[in-house]
Amino acid sequence: MTHQHPKGTRDFFPAEFAALHHIEDAWRTASINAGFEEIEGPTFEHLNLYTVKSGEGIVSELFSFKRAGGDVDYALRPEFTPTLARMAAAKGRSLSLPTKWFGIPSHFRAERPQRGRLREFKQWNVDLLGIDAPSADAEIIATAVAALATLGLTSDDVVVRISHRSVVTSMLLEGGLDESQLDQALALLDKKEKMDDAAFATKLEEAGLPSSAFAQFDGDAVVSHPGLDILQTELERWGVSDWCAFDFSIVRGLAYYTGIVFEIHERSGAERAIAGGGRYDKLIEMFGGPSCPAVGFGMGDVVLSLVLKDKGLLEDGDTYLPTPEVFVVSASDEGDALLPSIVASLRTSGIHARQSYKATRNVGKLVTEATKAKAKHVIILGGELEQGNVVIKNLESGKQIELALDAVVEHFS
Ligand code: HAM
Repeated sequence: MTHQHPKGTRDFFPAEFAALHHIEDAWRTASINAGFEEIEGPTFEHLNLYTVKSGEGIVSELFSFKRAGGDVDYALRPEFTPTLARMAAAKGRSLSLPTKWFGIPSHFRAERPQRGRLREFKQWNVDLLGIDAPSADAEIIATAVAALATLGLTSDDVVVRISHRSVVTSMLLEGGLDESQLDQALALLDKKEKMDDAAFATKLEEAGLPSSAFAQFDGDAVVSHPGLDILQTELERWGVSDWCAFDFSIVRGLAYYTGIVFEIHERSGAERAIAGGGRYDKLIEMFGGPSCPAVGFGMGDVVLSLVLKDKGLLEDGDTYLPTPEVFVVSASDEGDALLPSIVASLRTSGIHARQSYKATRNVGKLVTEATKAKAKHVIILGGELEQGNVVIKNLESGKQIELALDAVVEHFS
């Protein structure tokens, strides 16, 4: 009987996992350098945490379940924002503001698996609580940009497309929509880019929405909004305005956003959104906490990896696997007996040390093995042990020295 991993999930063998860590390292470093502190929550929550305010899009994609024999409804987390808001609400007034949190949780969405969309993925979350100002929005965007830049992307490769919930809503209302049609209109607008014009027109007709109200989202609509002018200035101050463009076709499917919303895309429109976020000033209060403004984003590993690979910025294979500082081989009986204690002392001193498991005494073959493992040095436990010495070969320079056995660990520390 053979088993496969469930559809839309991934097995990470060492090389793939190391590539994921390469991305996570950039995320973590950008967060920590910007003063965000790491948090984590449970992988599943009570189902109603998501049904309250995430919006139709996510609710229809939940993996929900009950405990065997139980009657409480749970769901695997499809996103982190409700957990974060719940955690902030639980701290209540004891939460010192501003609070800057980040996390790299796994998420689960019962989507149809396709390029850039899986059922389990990693998502970097960065959220700033307690500051209701465009400077906070810009700092959040600058943090996302910092990680992308570390990974080798430039403002020619990606763009942060920024919009504003109230600008879009007033555009729709001025376009002739009724207040009661807004939620439906926003949800459709969010999907507009993924459909051709005819399919979108059909959807509008089915929903009974006037197409005239949506025409204004086609080109580069120029809309002035006082908040956006200040944001533009802040983005310039944070040095990321080259990476950003206002774009009112960005709506975001999640219902809790109250102010700016943004998505990060590959510039030519290849792939889905790399990241999405915005301001959600009411969510923490809605979960029983104090009134607390908040802004943040989530960046997934799946689309980002595709974009990085397309641009030659993410290698396949072993590139990101850690390589040993030292590879210890034995070519003598005495060496065989000494090898474990040498390897163990090196490791105790914090040195990445590996050994050969081969029975051969052929030094050439053993050194080849060390070279294949991409070790920097090889320690050869051979005939020199009779004088209490070992041979250390630097595999980069090819230089070889003889050193007293008891000086080896210190030599590498
Ligand atoms: P979201 O737009 O649903 O936002 O997801 C953000 C990013 O997660 C997407 O741009 C995409 O890269 C990745 N992503 C989403 N679904 C999938 C999937 N099925 N497979 C692979 N990647 C996916 C949120 O989740 C908000 N909670 C973000 C946020 C944080 N807003 C404020 N703070």
